[in-house]
Amino acid sequence: AAARKHRIAVIPGDGIGKETTPEGIRVLEAAGRRFGFELQLTEYDWSCDVYAKTGKMMPDDGLDQLKDSDSIFLGAVGWPGVPDHVSLWGLLIPIRRGFDQYANVRPCKLMPGARTPLANRTPAEIDFYVVRENTEGEYSSVGGRMFPGTDREFVSQQSILTRTGTDRIMKYAFELAMTRPRKKVTSATKSNGITFTMPYWDERFEEMAKQYPGVTTDVFHIDILCAHFVQHPDWFDVVVGSNLFGDILSDLGPAVAGSIGIAPSANINPEKIFPSMFEPVHGSAPDIAGKWVCNPIGQIWSGAMMLEHLGEKEAADAIVKTIEVMLAEGGPRTRDMGGNAGTVDVGKALAEAVAKF
Ligand code: NAI
Ligand code: MG
Repeated sequence: AAARKHRIAVIPGDGIGKETTPEGIRVLEAAGRRFGFELQLTEYDWSCDVYAKTGKMMPDDGLDQLKDSDSIFLGAVGWPGVPDHVSLWGLLIPIRRGFDQYANVRPCKLMPGARTPLANRTPAEIDFYVVRENTEGEYSSVGGRMFPGTDREFVSQQSILTRTGTDRIMKYAFELAMTRPRKKVTSATKSNGITFTMPYWDERFEEMAKQYPGVTTDVFHIDILCAHFVQHPDWFDVVVGSNLFGDILSDLGPAVAGSIGIAPSANINPEKIFPSMFEPVHGSAPDIAGKWVCNPIGQIWSGAMMLEHLGEKEAADAIVKTIEVMLAEGGPRTRDMGGNAGTVDVGKALAEAVAKF
């Protein structure tokens, strides 16, 4: 029988992205051989290196080139010498927005052997998702600067919440909660200080909650919510936030779970009208790039999220389980997790274990 085929656009990007993506692919291909699907990979060299030569992070028709792929598998983007807002707005943001990847989804799960800064927490106590609105909110391009260079100089930037944008991210969070044993959604707000948009956010949250009587809910202001992430990570199951609050929580959550090197992330277009994009939480890590010592697990776990999105749930679960078992049984680990294995050692060990799963 012909194997199921998935067309994947691969963008390694900068720095350690060039080291982690090959390991991600190695494990994905091992899973494909084991679980009966085939990946058709197309690699794109879009990066700060290309920007240095062409003045563009990606070609003008970049989104066109990507649009027929089933998913995008990305490493990390950003490198010293190119301002971060140039690399971000030249590549990642156009993909997230152009493909309406409005749900940014990050599991925060304490893996066996990962050292959480929160002493004595067990894997059963840190296992939640952050769902971030990924297209509007505080990160709008509405605003400007007037009277530059004068005493009257001012800047303003508007925060935009639409009903469509707010409702669909909340629906995504409730649907995700329905697939989990605890069935709980926590909303991040700040309706005490931000008096128009955040009360609206709260209103839409309450409205959506009515449609999910089986899901319990909780609401916290973003400041105390950050404190609770650290002090009571066991309170959370699915946490939904606006673009800015979700951004903050989705770095804090993985930090609570131990190493940024293992944290995965998905930028999802739930309707599958456009390809979704899967990438580790970490950046290009210029401080360790080129030494092949970075942790590839964040990339590999992002690959598992990609497989789940593509309907390969069995293979996705096998990869996550394999990571857990390898870490629990003292398999090779990189420096950030207290070991001395290289990037490729970890990738190969996981690929072999997935092949035998
Ligand atoms: P970073 O995530 O690249 O590095 C932060 C720290 O974590 C560094 O000490 C690094 O060595 C360590 N680290 C990161 N990934 C690791 C891994 N896989 N294994 C072991 N250690 C790891 O964040 P930073 O330094 O703030 O940003 C560097 C560049 O990456 C910037 O240009 C930034 O804009 C970009 N960036 C890109 C992101 C993306 O592509 N989505 C996300 C975050 C940053
Ligand atoms: Mg961030």
